[in-house]
Amino acid sequence: MKILYVSSEAQPFAASGGLADVAGSLPKALAEEGQECIVVLPYYVNTIKESQKENIRYVDNFYVSVGWRAQYCGVFQTELNGVTYYFLDNEYYFKRDFGLYGYYDDGERFAFFSRAVMELVQKFNLRPDIINANDWQCALIPVYYNLYYRNQYNMQNIHTVFTIHNIQYQGRYGLEMMEEILGIPKYYTSVMEYDHDVNFMKAAIEVSEKVTTVSPTYAQEIMDPWFAHGLDRILKTKTYKTCGFLNGIDQDMYNPESDADIPAKFSAKNKSGKKTCKQKLLEEVGLGGGDDAPVIGLVSRLVEHKGFDLVKCAFDEMVGLGCKIVILGSGEAQYENFFHEMHYRYPDKVSFTCGYIPALAKKIYAGADMFLMPSKSEPCGLAQMISLRYGTVPIVRATGGLKDSIRDYGEPDDSGLGFTFQSYNALDMLGAVRRATELYYNDKRKWGALVTKGMKADFSWNRSAKLYIGLYKELCGQ
Ligand code: GLC
Repeated sequence: MKILYVSSEAQPFAASGGLADVAGSLPKALAEEGQECIVVLPYYVNTIKESQKENIRYVDNFYVSVGWRAQYCGVFQTELNGVTYYFLDNEYYFKRDFGLYGYYDDGERFAFFSRAVMELVQKFNLRPDIINANDWQCALIPVYYNLYYRNQYNMQNIHTVFTIHNIQYQGRYGLEMMEEILGIPKYYTSVMEYDHDVNFMKAAIEVSEKVTTVSPTYAQEIMDPWFAHGLDRILKTKTYKTCGFLNGIDQDMYNPESDADIPAKFSAKNKSGKKTCKQKLLEEVGLGGGDDAPVIGLVSRLVEHKGFDLVKCAFDEMVGLGCKIVILGSGEAQYENFFHEMHYRYPDKVSFTCGYIPALAKKIYAGADMFLMPSKSEPCGLAQMISLRYGTVPIVRATGGLKDSIRDYGEPDDSGLGFTFQSYNALDMLGAVRRATELYYNDKRKWGALVTKGMKADFSWNRSAKLYIGLYKELCGQ
């Protein structure tokens, strides 16, 4: 099969979150399973490193309709890990200074990209069996395919899959945008319109042959108004074509035996390097010395749905349990201010680094004893799997992919990989942290066994890549 995987970001070229990890590692896993895989990305000239550009070559250009205008699109290409990458270039849209998204014209930028992807498929005669489009930025791809391409020469029988990584970001704009900017005729209003707006994600849910999301539990949760940010009403009518596969992680990229970003290497067999990692981490963030306190790591965007209201509520008690807390992240001012304040209140127990520094994130995964993810909702979550790989025990709320990947240690038996709590409630979170610290202090042998078990757990893409292939085959009638 030939699979065209389209994303607005992918490792190692451009990343703002977990989507980039998935788009960087799933195609590689599909290729390893013997499938032909092509990835298409915007050419973010200011983000892609010069050293990477040396391997990316210009191949062609064409013009793309954006409403009534025709916009230039350059095509660049490279190969990596058995996967072909196409980058679509237009400096007006993608040469921006402040990150990948968050501009007033994001809707137009990704309408251009989506239309350009379809032009690429046609002009380059790519003839994929499957197009898998990800998140709202690529949601117009199945829409344009149905509207303008599916009956054209060499464009028939392409099957469309739309994957939701986070239902909160939908691509909602005023209806006036539809014809003028998106180039979508009025008679398509019933597909595009939702709650009096144009809604990219809703349109993709309507027209794609399959809708997938990034964990089985999240696939159920998004049928519920508490999680769905309004889209439950449309999704409930599409349950017959909706499912969820748990993401994996790239086990080569996240490997404590070979990771150049961490101060000492270690493995499930020989964990002594982890002690060094802990020591060095504490020195680096200014919490060195003292007793053998458990270290809780937190690496996250500081936004509400990651559960920081619970952390705020129970913070003093967590410190009271004897923990040191190392936080890395940036986001909403209320949380940044809170963590700055906590650092001043507990200068030898709490450190806060405001920003996103991938190398420090790795040092936290490797140097902490526990990793806290009290998310209100979490489509999949990758950090809990990465922490496990680095011998750090996750403490998570049982939601979405966190629920699918981390069973509780102790409930009903000792077979789980971490500590979980059910209700979105600060005391319940504190209870899970307390159970973790008690085991850490009181039974070093059991704690060590739990760490080893986590390091050995398999969250590679092998399983999920097969599930995607199964779905693609079903669509192709194979
Ligand atoms: C989004 C979700 C996260 C998921 C990632 C990759 O960032 O919020 O839970 O792990 O996408 O699918």
